[in-house]
Amino acid sequence: MPEDCKNGSSMAAVVLPWFFLVSPVVLAASMTVNEANGTVPLVLWHGMGDCCCNPLSLGAIKKMIEQEIPGIYVLSLMIGKNVVEDTENSFFMDVNQQVSMVCSQLAQDPKLKGGYNAMGFSQGAQFLRAVAQRCPSPPMKNLISVGGQHQGVYGLPRCPGESSHVCDMIRKALNSGAYSDLIQKHLVQAQYWHDPLNDDLYKQRSLFLADINQERVVNETYKKNLQMLNKFVMVKFLQDSVVDPVDSEWFGFLKTGQAKETETLQESVLYKEDRLGLAAMDKAGKLVFLATDGDHLQFTREWFNTNLLPYLR
Ligand SMILES: *[C@@H]1O[C@H](CO)[C@@H](O)[C@H](O)[C@H]1NC(C)=O
Ligand SMILES: *[C@@H]1O[C@H](CO)[C@@H](O)[C@H](O)[C@H]1NC(C)=O
Repeated sequence: MPEDCKNGSSMAAVVLPWFFLVSPVVLAASMTVNEANGTVPLVLWHGMGDCCCNPLSLGAIKKMIEQEIPGIYVLSLMIGKNVVEDTENSFFMDVNQQVSMVCSQLAQDPKLKGGYNAMGFSQGAQFLRAVAQRCPSPPMKNLISVGGQHQGVYGLPRCPGESSHVCDMIRKALNSGAYSDLIQKHLVQAQYWHDPLNDDLYKQRSLFLADINQERVVNETYKKNLQMLNKFVMVKFLQDSVVDPVDSEWFGFLKTGQAKETETLQESVLYKEDRLGLAAMDKAGKLVFLATDGDHLQFTREWFNTNLLPYLR
């Protein structure tokens, strides 16, 4: 079973080693006063094997953002009743159910009424996109995807951090039939497993990704809701050894029918037929493609401040 991530298990060190490289900033005394509340609330969704409040990953990011933008309300999502459940659910809880839980949590939070920005890490990024597409109220303003897999993955070369025993199990399950009902229902990673050699099966059976990517039908509501974003920012990690193919972080993927050549978002049917409104968003300047050196989710505070902070103000 995944570790209690609140204890700062070693996975966090791998997920965000940059944390150790930056010097802690002294909290400004005015921080608790919230005098300058012209801030936009921010919702964070963590990645696989992580949790809402790990002091070495999302907890540190939350704190850092609160230092940079005094008075901001940052909600780091916990899926479940505690951090252990939260971590386990990132492997084993039906994603559609997770998304609908988050939608009702956001709708009930009075601080989010006027809208919010959203930042998803790894799989949390495609889950937040589903929130944008399915739940327009309260309105999401900017969506920032940090190493998200918007066309899914075809491979699990390395798990983040120390979850490798869990990953071995997941790999086995995916190989034995990612699109079987049982595995689809109970394995998060199966729900964004995208097998280019079995495209029909993927389209028919993928419970989560094929739905939000409009593979079966074009849901006009999804298209309309996504286009309400001001910006959809996608960050790709150039040395990513966890996400396969890494093109998925910019909404690209392997060309159908083979597993070598990739295509960009702009070359895809999804874009050409504009099934999700992404082409329209691109033309309107709403899509932002950022790249950074480093492995999965590794960035410096300086990079974050220069490149992502402007979308949170
Ligand atoms: C001001 O910010 C704090 C978070 O620090 C939040 O709890 C509060 O609701 C905000 N007030 C307004 C009016 O937005
Ligand atoms: C389209 O999406 C909305 C919002 O999630 C949902 O209520 C509706 O049932 C979907 N329609 C189809 C045809 O899937």
